[in-house]
Amino acid sequence: MRKICPGILMLHTDYQGIHEQRYKQIRRDGRSGWSSDSAVQGMCDIVEEGQNKLKITRPGHVKLLELGCGDGSVSLALARMGYEVSGIDIVPMAISWAEEKAQLQSLDLSFQVGSVLNLPFSDNCFDLVLDADCSHCIIGVDRGLFLANAFRVLKKGGLFVMVALCGEPEPELAKYFHRESRCLVRDGVAARYLGLPESICKEVESAGFHVMDWRVEDFEDHHKELIAYFLKL
Ligand SMILES: C[S@@+](CC[C@H](N)C(=O)[O-])C[C@H]1O[C@@H](n2cnc3c(N)ncnc32)[C@H](O)[C@@H]1O
Repeated sequence: MRKICPGILMLHTDYQGIHEQRYKQIRRDGRSGWSSDSAVQGMCDIVEEGQNKLKITRPGHVKLLELGCGDGSVSLALARMGYEVSGIDIVPMAISWAEEKAQLQSLDLSFQVGSVLNLPFSDNCFDLVLDADCSHCIIGVDRGLFLANAFRVLKKGGLFVMVALCGEPEPELAKYFHRESRCLVRDGVAARYLGLPESICKEVESAGFHVMDWRVEDFEDHHKELIAYFLKL
């Protein structure tokens, strides 16, 4: 266990534990996955916008990695659009669910269990790396590791697309917000980082990326998401 701020602890191993609980609840509730259909469509539109910005080749020639792909909804939708998709997530049950869906939909993509802090891929092997709401789960010094891994696996000239919670917490979450660390903290454990958009972009830039473009949007009417495009030059 380590402290990220006085009184706030983060368990090294807790990325899996926190998210596994959520997936169990989602399956108990009979939902189709972590993200709603409209959120999945929103992510696909954001990726397509990035691809157009870069004027990279047709999706069929684009090797894309989704970091923290969860139950695979976004990865599967991108595969249907023609991207050659790999997805990685730390929760085995989420990856099994993603694999089940891929089989049912006869889609050929690769899912694997693993940590975004230690990616099991070689250097410079993806044209596009997507962070669809994963990096806001990564706390403290681990954020540097996350970005270093994303940078390493991206090809030169490749695109890093980030969609992440940012800014102020939704009113019902305000009581969990620790302003100094900008984390949502429950039972002393930080589980979400709500950075300011400019400082998140600076953080990504300091990992070696070039900032192309960013904006903040209201997602599903209640929370703010940073949508940002970065290049590995
Ligand atoms: C908010 S969910 C988003 C899931 C998916 N990208 C989507 O948009 O539906 C965040 C995901 O990141 C995963 N995650 C969190 N920490 C991780 C880590 N250290 N390594 C790999 N995956 C992680 C969680 O298990 C969860 O599936």
